[in-house]
Amino acid sequence: MGDPQTNGKPLTEDSRLRLLEHFSGEGPPPNDRWSTLWDAGDFLPWDQGRPNPALTDVMQDRQDLVGSSPLVAENGELRRKRAFVPGCGRGYDVLLLASLGYDAYGLEVSTTAVEKAQAWAEEHAADYPIRDETVGRGKAKFILGDFFGNEWIQQADGVDKFEFIYDYTFFCALSPELRPAWALRLWDLLSTHHDSLIVCVEFPTFKKLFFGGPPYAAPSSAYLTHLGNPGKKVWYDFEGGAMVSQDEELGQGIGFRRIDHWKAARSHEMGKGTDWVSVWKRSI
Ligand SMILES: C[S@@+](CC[C@H](N)C(=O)[O-])C[C@H]1O[C@@H](n2cnc3c(N)ncnc32)[C@H](O)[C@@H]1O
Repeated sequence: MGDPQTNGKPLTEDSRLRLLEHFSGEGPPPNDRWSTLWDAGDFLPWDQGRPNPALTDVMQDRQDLVGSSPLVAENGELRRKRAFVPGCGRGYDVLLLASLGYDAYGLEVSTTAVEKAQAWAEEHAADYPIRDETVGRGKAKFILGDFFGNEWIQQADGVDKFEFIYDYTFFCALSPELRPAWALRLWDLLSTHHDSLIVCVEFPTFKKLFFGGPPYAAPSSAYLTHLGNPGKKVWYDFEGGAMVSQDEELGQGIGFRRIDHWKAARSHEMGKGTDWVSVWKRSI
């Protein structure tokens, strides 16, 4: 199966139920279950066949946030910013970032997904033209590993810091118990350079947590609470709103600051009209 199963299609009720079933009950850990889906290749309902238009719009229209250049000064020299896309799937967003001049790294827990991303990059290079000839194209590298582990850092050219991190349908792919660790891991991976930021395209903001997942409910309050309090225990109310546990001290210690938040004018079909974009910086 060389091609995406969907292109701009909504996540149907049938697909949602099939995903829920696939990830439910006793059996292999979630990472293996993702790999099973990629290996079979005939049910990849999240795969939209192109970069998320919401990311395209951020990079094009919000240079006040992301900067006008993919280059950063280090030790008196300019180098490409390093972009990181965890759970990148077939890697469309990675290819977009590389075309803008970033050195872009897409991480996947599935060997087959990495292979499919590499093949897509080779076959579709012309679909990702260089935006600025003076800057050129950055590298697009697809690497195999578990986001929560360290074994993949070597493949990311041995550097575990990134100036730009993009999350789309990775947060919602993880079981909610992993969210404190997700935010803490991002804290470790985001470079301390003052230009560094995280962009999240929030999906599915409309879903209630009791429906299960993946995709698990991802209201804006969940991003706000977890990223504002990496590693801290969070509880969710019946409506899916997220709050830090009352025994934790709010606003203490490390945390990301949301510097902007807006409803995406364009996004993939499955999040159209409900996806939000949030942009985050380190508080310290
Ligand atoms: C819902 S899909 C989204 C893929 C991609 N972002 C897209 O929009 O097409 C989530 C992806 O995360 C990957 N994934 C899940 N858990 C992971 C982990 N712990 N580390 C790395 N990748 C993971 C899965 O293999 C899957 O391809």
